[in-house]
Amino acid sequence: MTLTRRTFIAGAIALGLAGSAYAAKPLVIGFSQVGAESEWRTANTVSIKDAAKKAGVTLKFADAQQRQENQVKAIRSFIAQKVDVIAFSPVVESGWDTVLREAKAAKIPVILTDRDVNVADKSLYVTLIGSDFVEEGRRAARWLADYAKKQPGKTFNIVELQGTVGSAPAIDRKTGFEEVIKGNPQLKIIRTQTAEFTRAKGKEVMEAFLKANGRSINVLYAHNDDMAIGAIQAIEEAGLKPGKDIVIVSIDGVKGAFEAMMLGKMNVSVECSPLLGPQLMQAAKDVVAGKPLPKRIVTEEKVFPAEVAAKEFPNRKY
Ligand code: AHR
Repeated sequence: MTLTRRTFIAGAIALGLAGSAYAAKPLVIGFSQVGAESEWRTANTVSIKDAAKKAGVTLKFADAQQRQENQVKAIRSFIAQKVDVIAFSPVVESGWDTVLREAKAAKIPVILTDRDVNVADKSLYVTLIGSDFVEEGRRAARWLADYAKKQPGKTFNIVELQGTVGSAPAIDRKTGFEEVIKGNPQLKIIRTQTAEFTRAKGKEVMEAFLKANGRSINVLYAHNDDMAIGAIQAIEEAGLKPGKDIVIVSIDGVKGAFEAMMLGKMNVSVECSPLLGPQLMQAAKDVVAGKPLPKRIVTEEKVFPAEVAAKEFPNRKY
């Protein structure tokens, strides 16, 4: 809690205003978003803005356009503005110690949403609300291992499109996937490269994969749906059938992926929910009220194979 807010609450109590209109000063959250790289990210931004409105929270929103230095600047500006809570989705995992120490020195609690940071002192943030990315990678690989099992003796050459280099989802989704396929003689990663979580890069990198390996590619594992959708375009332009000639395994579960699955162009999407806004607002209120929070709040998610896409599509919120 900032000094201003504490002073205000203390003053309100002294004046007997607690519980009155004067005591209901809106909570101020400074939120630094990664950018607008994907359908997922857009839905995440909408969720946070909508939830802030519904919760009566004043949201100071800054878009970092995929750059860590912009996030550091935004966090310093939130500290200078004495917001009540700082929240952010870190573009990459490392390099946060200094600025988070500054927030701690200013007594402003920090909540992480979506992505983790790699800091030695875990007291620099209160909690992390978001998905288990390692488990998402495992789920993608388990689906593929089951698929491969139905064709015994066949080897599946996999190309992998990684997310932003150094980001928690790129690191963890790779780790989880590799953990499951390790020792499986049917599954082999033959190429892996970042496509920065965007459609445009997904298409570009897939074109390069196709040029280098052509018809020997059996599977695309993409760390998000946007890269998979970009790659699908590249596969079609190369005269191949995505979903058939090349099995498409992806992560997020955005509407675009469901549309691709309904057209038979994608085989599975592992859900990663961007709807973190309501949980963030609750956590911010709790931390300001002095309530203890768990260090990790994990989002519940499912796996959607193409067979269930049409039935599930009407229920999708993002
Ligand atoms: O951090 C979550 C990831 O970031 C999503 O999977 C991806 O679509 C986004 O850009």
